[in-house]
Amino acid sequence: MTHNLLTLRQEEKLVFELVKTSVLFVGRSLYPEYVKMFDLKLDTLLGKRILDVASGPASFTCEMCKLGYDVIALDMMYSYSVSELRLIANNHLESFFSTMPEDHYPKTDQVMAWLDENLMEEVNTPIKLRGVRERGLQLFLEDFDLDANRQQRRYVAGSLPAIESVQDQLFDLILVGNLLFAYSQKQEYNYDFHISSIRSLASRLNDDGELRIYPFGNDDTFSFPCQKLRDDLLQEGIDSQSIESEHRYVKGWTQMLVVKKLTEASSKPH
Ligand SMILES: C[S@@+](CC[C@H](N)C(=O)[O-])C[C@H]1O[C@@H](n2cnc3c(N)ncnc32)[C@H](O)[C@@H]1O
Repeated sequence: MTHNLLTLRQEEKLVFELVKTSVLFVGRSLYPEYVKMFDLKLDTLLGKRILDVASGPASFTCEMCKLGYDVIALDMMYSYSVSELRLIANNHLESFFSTMPEDHYPKTDQVMAWLDENLMEEVNTPIKLRGVRERGLQLFLEDFDLDANRQQRRYVAGSLPAIESVQDQLFDLILVGNLLFAYSQKQEYNYDFHISSIRSLASRLNDDGELRIYPFGNDDTFSFPCQKLRDDLLQEGIDSQSIESEHRYVKGWTQMLVVKKLTEASSKPH
């Protein structure tokens, strides 16, 4: 493995980059999170082309590829080197967990409320969650490092909404977890960003392909015009359904949005 040491100047530049994007570079694992967020039925996915967008340091792609699935991960941060990504990810994990009450703190109402809102059933203490995140990060970093020597890259640098780096490819399943809607209060992730991103992702779907976005909810969940977005997409021949997701992490994030292109056959009345 190549771990270049970063100079202080480079570290400063990275930290600046993080503040600018202000999206956490943290990632989730195949079990239980991706499977639950997106209601994945793994036995139906063998032989399908899968794209995980805004994949971050998630171990999903690495774990799926080890099981024989065909997955590509895309993220705007993948233009950085493995040592830079390690620094960024550790920095984000640290700041995320420093806001979290410790396991052994007295279970005051405030602590209980935090645990209630932020932890999954399976990973029900901050220490367990941190362990899961650190193991996932390690898997991602090792795989990302190996990727430099692969003929066909598994980790592709690319930014929504344009995703030019996969412009010439079509997929059966595209996933976007914990970016769209989740960060919609930020100016750079406004309505235009959402509609252009979904439009561009839908154009990368095979005719019967699906785009699944977690989280989703109603207009109140994210203070965002979710229904208008769906209506506007429908006008362009892009259909969407809000479907219950089994994943429980942040209160109110109980849905995923499933997006499909309307083909001539599917839009004809039966
Ligand atoms: C909170 S992480 C989610 C990672 C993973 N999808 C998961 O659910 O575990 C959000 C990711 O979105 C990426 N991101 C933010 N803006 C982006 C954009 N415009 N295009 C592509 N990726 C973006 C960040 O770099 C970060 O890795």
